[in-house]
Amino acid sequence: CGDYGRMSEEEMEEVLKTLPMEKIPEGFDLYFYEGRWYPSIFFHGIISFQQHFKAQDADLILITFPKSGTTWLKALAFTIENRKNYPFSESPLLTTNPHDLILFLEDEIYGKNPILKLEDLPSPRVLATHMPHSALPTSMKESNCRVVYMCRNPLDVFISFRHFAITLSNTPFDPSLIEECFDMFCRGVSIYGPFWDHVLEYWKASRERPDKVLFLKYEDMKEDPISHCKVLAKFMGLPFSVEEESQGVIEEVLKLCSFDNLKDLEVNKNEKNRNGHPYSMFFRKGEVGDWANFLTPSMLERMNKLMEEKFAGSGLNF
Ligand code: A3P
Repeated sequence: CGDYGRMSEEEMEEVLKTLPMEKIPEGFDLYFYEGRWYPSIFFHGIISFQQHFKAQDADLILITFPKSGTTWLKALAFTIENRKNYPFSESPLLTTNPHDLILFLEDEIYGKNPILKLEDLPSPRVLATHMPHSALPTSMKESNCRVVYMCRNPLDVFISFRHFAITLSNTPFDPSLIEECFDMFCRGVSIYGPFWDHVLEYWKASRERPDKVLFLKYEDMKEDPISHCKVLAKFMGLPFSVEEESQGVIEEVLKLCSFDNLKDLEVNKNEKNRNGHPYSMFFRKGEVGDWANFLTPSMLERMNKLMEEKFAGSGLNF
């Protein structure tokens, strides 16, 4: 990929012109780069992150395919990490959106308008990205840093992104676009897609290095939050003590990070992020299976066939 990370904006624009491009109807440009579809707005940050990030062994990186529960995972990881630093009633989560507590590497750190220098973050650093495993900076694969990956049923991911795109672009919901967008998703053309490559790469990595890559499913977290919160804390090297368990600390963590609690906080209800988008766009329904309200039986059949084919033999299913 050359030395794109050191390119000027103008040079980057020239590179983008050489890449295959598809447009999501609401106006997002996706560029096909090294086998994956990246949003043009993050392209600079993606390349710069790939080129310059030096992972540290103590780093914890939260990774998701967009709309798979990133906000929830960030809230949980932040709360687990800081549970001894603040009483729950004084948690920064009560006044700050989870995305401002754990930053995206390709956006707020390496993007066009960074808000923080990595050097200013204390160790252990907790960071986030949507990058596919195969595109991670070499230092991440070589270091002992830990990765938590959360995935979600592709049908809910698809529907969640439809609504997100509409809010971001300030356009009304247009059901007639669903079919076209669904076709794009099934062709692999989706933000950081193809979906199946993203999930499978982390699934394999989690099986090869289970001590370094934790693989979680949104649906499992919903079904049995207590067990999965314990698994997450243990993986982070911060297991709940017997005393904490008996004091109901896990329940407190889950309550603070719950969809119902976060969505009703003033910051998430009425405030906007630095790009002028409402934080409420990260809290829609928070349910499993909402796709059934939007997709036809033939779409379901197409997705099921596709997932069976792509995940065959992997031991993973949705
Ligand atoms: P829906 O659009 O299906 O409601 P991401 O955080 O990766 O952008 O994913 C957003 C999805 O996670 C949205 O799904 C959102 O409602 C849901 N979500 C946000 N916070 C959540 C929480 N605390 N618990 C469960 N789901 C949450």
